[in-house]
Amino acid sequence: MSKKVYIETLGCAMNTRDTEHIIAELQSKDDYELCDDAKSADLIMINTCSVREKPVNKLFSEIGVFNKIKKQSAKIGICGCTASHLGDEIFKRAPSVSFVLGARNVSKVSEAVKTEKFIDVSIDYDESNYAFDDFRTSMYKAYVNISIGCDKKCTYCIVPQTRGDEISIPAELIVQEARRAAKNGAKEIFLLGQNVNNYGRRFSTKRDSKIDFSDLLNMISEIEEVERIRFTSPHPLHMDDKFLETFANNPKVCKSMHMPLQSGSTHILEQMKRGYTKEWFLNRALKLRELVPDVSISTDIIVAFPGESDADFEDSMDVIEQVKFEQIFAFKYSARPLTEAANFENQVDKEIGSKRLQRLQSRQDEILDLISSSRKDKIYDVYFEELRNNGMVAGRSDNNALVQVEGGEELLGTTRKVLITNPRRLALYGELVK
Ligand code: 5AD
Ligand code: SF4
Repeated sequence: MSKKVYIETLGCAMNTRDTEHIIAELQSKDDYELCDDAKSADLIMINTCSVREKPVNKLFSEIGVFNKIKKQSAKIGICGCTASHLGDEIFKRAPSVSFVLGARNVSKVSEAVKTEKFIDVSIDYDESNYAFDDFRTSMYKAYVNISIGCDKKCTYCIVPQTRGDEISIPAELIVQEARRAAKNGAKEIFLLGQNVNNYGRRFSTKRDSKIDFSDLLNMISEIEEVERIRFTSPHPLHMDDKFLETFANNPKVCKSMHMPLQSGSTHILEQMKRGYTKEWFLNRALKLRELVPDVSISTDIIVAFPGESDADFEDSMDVIEQVKFEQIFAFKYSARPLTEAANFENQVDKEIGSKRLQRLQSRQDEILDLISSSRKDKIYDVYFEELRNNGMVAGRSDNNALVQVEGGEELLGTTRKVLITNPRRLALYGELVK
């Protein structure tokens, strides 16, 4: 009889894909099957994120909860970014943990489950050519990694310390994987990397051909069964004209772009080592709006980075006024170990941070209400992916709006025209156009 694995996934889409890789490995090599109840599992894993402090603190209380409910013989394994940066401190603080597997060592999971107190958190291991077995949570959308690691040196960010240097995965492997997923029914391919539009800068072995991210998008769009291509995250610094034009002109590339601003102040951007100015960011965002009138732009913003003055914060507010993002992920700065900014002296008072966050979010809510109401009576092509329990089916428009209509399984995996009748802040409700 097969053993059961339960896995909780925190953090970003890269972690979601790592979890799929872990399940694939455990299924094919160790006869595990996935289960959704930790109590009956033989193996409980937590795929952790360390980008902010809060989830890291929660990790140990969560391990405590699993300890109470798990079968006596069940093992607990910790993987992902917090595994990378805490390493064997995890064993010290939580002796019940059986193995610790860093975010750059996913392919070793089968060895980890069979080795008592296994630990590997190296960040120079190269998995860029490893062929993982196939497991996908969604039949309709396939995540495909295009690189590992991150070469940037953003002063607030722990990721280069948890995922190591950036290495691109060979284009032929990516295309092969996308083709296989599309043949199995995934009409949407979602490309993943820390800096996707920096693709092709370094491979693990020397290569003659120079393929950049724009070329990669075009190669994937040639796969007949692929209808939609999405990606995350691109970096504003690498948004050159070739990239924006490929994005605009390739009809299979979905018209939603994540542009992580982080701060609207050129001075703070310098302190963050982001490599661009407020003006560059605005120039790229406005060019994008000009090239693709229906584009939706999302962003990440950090408030109260060390040294952020009222005037610096106003610069962030000014950018959101000018760009009118369709979605903002806003965070209060959190000092992270192993980062440069954690040692900056001018840390901002936490209360000021909370006030700034609140102001930014409430202005964004107003902007969003205007954007949503302007979508009434529009018709979108919606690719349906998920059944909701209230008799509704949910999907995404090309420009990434969440759309729901009444319906059932027959809609899953199909793209249909939808008339928006009731646009709300979090979802647009509509009717199928016959
Ligand atoms: N504090 C707050 N937010 C952070 N992010 C990354 N590091 C930190 C930090 N130290 C945010 C950035 C990034 C997103 C994934 O998380 O906005 O784009
Ligand atoms: Fe993803 Fe960054 Fe969190 Fe790691 S630390 S899981 S790369 S968001």
